[in-house]
Amino acid sequence: MKILPYQPDKSGLAYSVGTTLDRFIKLKQSDFPFASGELSQLLRDIALASKIVNRETTRAGLSNIGGAFGQVNVQGEEQQKLDVIANIRFMRALSKGGEVCAIVSEEEDSVIDLQNSSGKYVVAIDPLDGSSNIDVNISIGTIFSIYRRKTPAGSPIQREDIMQAGTEQVAAGYVLYGSSTMLVYTTGCGVNGFTYEQSLGEFFLSHPNIQAPKIGEIYSVNEGSQKEWEEGVKAYVNLCKERRYSARYIGSLVADFHRNLLKGGIYLYPATKRNPSGKLRLLYEANALAFIAEQAGGMATDGNQRILEIQPTTLHQRTPLLIGSSDMVEEAESMISSLSLKSLL
Ligand code: F6P
Repeated sequence: MKILPYQPDKSGLAYSVGTTLDRFIKLKQSDFPFASGELSQLLRDIALASKIVNRETTRAGLSNIGGAFGQVNVQGEEQQKLDVIANIRFMRALSKGGEVCAIVSEEEDSVIDLQNSSGKYVVAIDPLDGSSNIDVNISIGTIFSIYRRKTPAGSPIQREDIMQAGTEQVAAGYVLYGSSTMLVYTTGCGVNGFTYEQSLGEFFLSHPNIQAPKIGEIYSVNEGSQKEWEEGVKAYVNLCKERRYSARYIGSLVADFHRNLLKGGIYLYPATKRNPSGKLRLLYEANALAFIAEQAGGMATDGNQRILEIQPTTLHQRTPLLIGSSDMVEEAESMISSLSLKSLL
């Protein structure tokens, strides 16, 4: 009997499909301080739910799941049917997986206790962000943060397990349901992006080690609220215009953030007179994207403070957010803080 070592094919007849998300998570498991495999399973559960949500969103126009659900969520926003569907999908995947003890979701008023006190992780999630864009076929996303609980597994969930600053995240990511569907995540060792291959039902590594350009030429902000901004924000946006930067605003946070992460740019959702704390939510929007931005070499601030260092006090707390290329965010932050200081003098 002859035994031969495996020789990878060089004929070019069957090109390699690349690295699947599953395989990548497994390969990188040892980078993670608590490499027990549970976090890896949790990431796989999120990926599975996102594939299902991807299926639902891509056929929304055909299956009567577009439009409003007829209820208003805790944010006072009208829930879309797909918001509710995505929430059910992620909740189900996370509760069946067994690694998670509690979930904070944009769609739920309270913390959801999964009655699985042996779970070591807490997930904060916006199951479907930018959902008002669904009916007009514009990119939407899922955003998630993963924390390790502070109290010992086996004991009831406590406030300290939930109210953790962004610096405590052990992993975070987003799924962008766009012209292609992508999952981008970090476990604190860089940022990697995976593109969904529909016919194989798998995410493949397409954007390894994403690095945010230090500076870009895009600014993204809802200029309809300009009158309500503080002077520093007005001054910074004017500077962007003087420099002939491009204004790009989809109104779907994940999509705006993703574009700027790859191309270089700044996204701003500042405080306004109407919303003095901004609009975006700290626990399941800003923190995850701030972690990713920093891991890619970018920056995220509320105008005065690093997003990741904000100590949350309420579940659905809002925060102003300036995020993206480090030089741009730094410049915007310094203009905001120096001009707000002047107005106090
Ligand atoms: O999370 C809410 C959200 O829909 C984000 O996705 C988006 O960036 C933002 O609100 C848009 O808000 P506005 O319509 O006020 O610009």
